[in-house]
Amino acid sequence: MEEEAKHCPIGVYDSGVGGLTVVRWLHKVLPQERIIYFGDTARVPYGGRPRHELIEFSRQIMGFFRKQGVKFVIAACNTSSALALPVVAQESDVPLMGVIGAGAREAVSVTKTKRIGVIGTQATVASRAYACAVKELEPKASVYEQACPELVPLIEAGHRDGEIVEKPLKEYLQPLLERSIDTLILGCTHYPYLLVPIKRLAGPDVEIVDPAEATAREARDRLETLGLLSGKKAGEDLFFVSGDPESFHTATVQLGYTQRVEHVVIERYTI
Ligand code: DGL
Repeated sequence: MEEEAKHCPIGVYDSGVGGLTVVRWLHKVLPQERIIYFGDTARVPYGGRPRHELIEFSRQIMGFFRKQGVKFVIAACNTSSALALPVVAQESDVPLMGVIGAGAREAVSVTKTKRIGVIGTQATVASRAYACAVKELEPKASVYEQACPELVPLIEAGHRDGEIVEKPLKEYLQPLLERSIDTLILGCTHYPYLLVPIKRLAGPDVEIVDPAEATAREARDRLETLGLLSGKKAGEDLFFVSGDPESFHTATVQLGYTQRVEHVVIERYTI
């Protein structure tokens, strides 16, 4: 039975294309793991939604993954990690990990001045999840958080640079730069798509932390501890969305994934 569990896929979810920035790292760190991805594109953005809704969505997604026979789930979504995971992980018999802990650890290890900025969705910032996680590791750190509600819809619409993203980004980064941060956490899995303009606006003195790489490493460690690391990839990755599969397919092709994207009625499932 244990032998079989190792060959089961990993579930990865986000509200949309954001979680694919984590999948990219999972492919590098865990190339032998098969991934089943779910993007909740019918309900994106998550960032302005209340906690009870995010918990319900996460329960449905865990129910869907369970039916898919996954062995482990990664909430590749900061908003869901901050608000839903603390509740849903307790209810689930499939292990569920998020992205906040890995991001906080990475930021604490790179900062020199202990002045850390975080950009994220309104819900993530309001939860103070990053501030708490960083302070637990480094009580002397100062954490400054900024909600960036305009960014996710722009990224889902395919914008990656130019005036349309630079204008809101400038406004969001300004208050953090005024606090002389030396480290900036990309506290939303969509934001690595804007790495070029973010780096340009933040300048060379600010270290940018994308929690995705550290998340992939943490996933590897957890799978190893659970005895669930796969020896070889047992089949192709699968992509599912709650919205239009075609537009999501375009986004996945841009990242080099050619697999078909399937639609799923996610409300049918629960934990
Ligand atoms: N990519 C997600 C996150 O990391 C969700 C963004 C959203 O849907 O607002 O927070």
